[in-house]
Amino acid sequence: AAAQKGGYKHFMLKEIFEQPKVIADCLAGRVDLAAGRALLPELASLPTPERLFIVACGTSFHAGLWGMYLLEQWAGVPTRVEIASEFRYRDPILLPGDVVVAISQSGETADTLAGIRLARERGAKVIGLCNVVGSSVARESDVVVYTQAGPEISVASTKAMCSQLTALTLLALSLGEITGRMSRQARVDCLANLEKLPSVLEAELPRMRERAAVLAKTFSESSSFLYLGRGPYYPLALEGALKLKEISYIHAEGYAAGEMKHGPIALIDPRFPTFALAPVDELFPKVKSNLEEVQARGGKIIALTNPGSDLRVDHVWEIPKAWGPLTTFLMLPALQMFAYEMADYLGKDVDQPRNLAKSVTVE
Ligand code: G6P
Repeated sequence: AAAQKGGYKHFMLKEIFEQPKVIADCLAGRVDLAAGRALLPELASLPTPERLFIVACGTSFHAGLWGMYLLEQWAGVPTRVEIASEFRYRDPILLPGDVVVAISQSGETADTLAGIRLARERGAKVIGLCNVVGSSVARESDVVVYTQAGPEISVASTKAMCSQLTALTLLALSLGEITGRMSRQARVDCLANLEKLPSVLEAELPRMRERAAVLAKTFSESSSFLYLGRGPYYPLALEGALKLKEISYIHAEGYAAGEMKHGPIALIDPRFPTFALAPVDELFPKVKSNLEEVQARGGKIIALTNPGSDLRVDHVWEIPKAWGPLTTFLMLPALQMFAYEMADYLGKDVDQPRNLAKSVTVE
């Protein structure tokens, strides 16, 4: 097992560090830069979707929620994202022209499979976004786009989400070209910047780990965390909170930053820290003002941000900025690393957290 971990202490750490390669592998053969085209030949047999339903569980659900921001903005396709166990039992209305995207690392999650079966029964086409070749999701979907993350051993999903985000970005670009909503220049810019991500992330990961380790120690006595984000960083806040819960057993809640004043703000005090996703983008001033509200109540803050943010919070954690929402690909590993370092510092069983299974094949 030690050899399989490639010198890393845990599979999770190894898989976090594999993400630059995962992005590169997901992009391999799928980019025509000159044309500004994402190549998804798998989808050729499907009509252009009029509406998209993304159905998934756990971390894959968070990836889907993130995808919605890109799919609606870049491709203009109305998209909703649903937890598979809700979708399958709520009698969803599916119309001709609807396409369901089922996202699953393992391809064996019972609720996601049931969602696929229901969608097909009701006449929708299903795209399976899946990491395991020949899995049930792959077999039961109309078409499959494989996410190319390689085998993921750690129960807590890391690199698989990175691959799902890459695939969703390609899907949004491809549909953005078909619907004509995204200009060629914007698609070229996006693809060129996607291709730069692996080297930027590679250089950044060791620094990220050091910072995460220091912060984990600083906050190791906290019993609860609030994660905040806006726009595509809201699903990332949910994922950051999920990672911390899963492996360190510290309670954490992810919230849309703008929704904080509708409840969680009542919890803020010096012992309830906030982990903020605060990339320097158009929503930055809004997140900044949310953080000022946290500070006014004595809440401690870790803010994951970009150079030039002018944030004055307890712990400013700067990582490079990428093009548009692609900064996500640099923030996700920082969140994973913080949860990892916290769990490891607290002596938890990082790769095999209690009560959790890698793939949930029963309801
Ligand atoms: C389990 C795993 C999670 C995963 C979820 C969905 O809960 O522990 O890491 O995100 O299932 O799994 P899937 O294989 O469908 O992506």
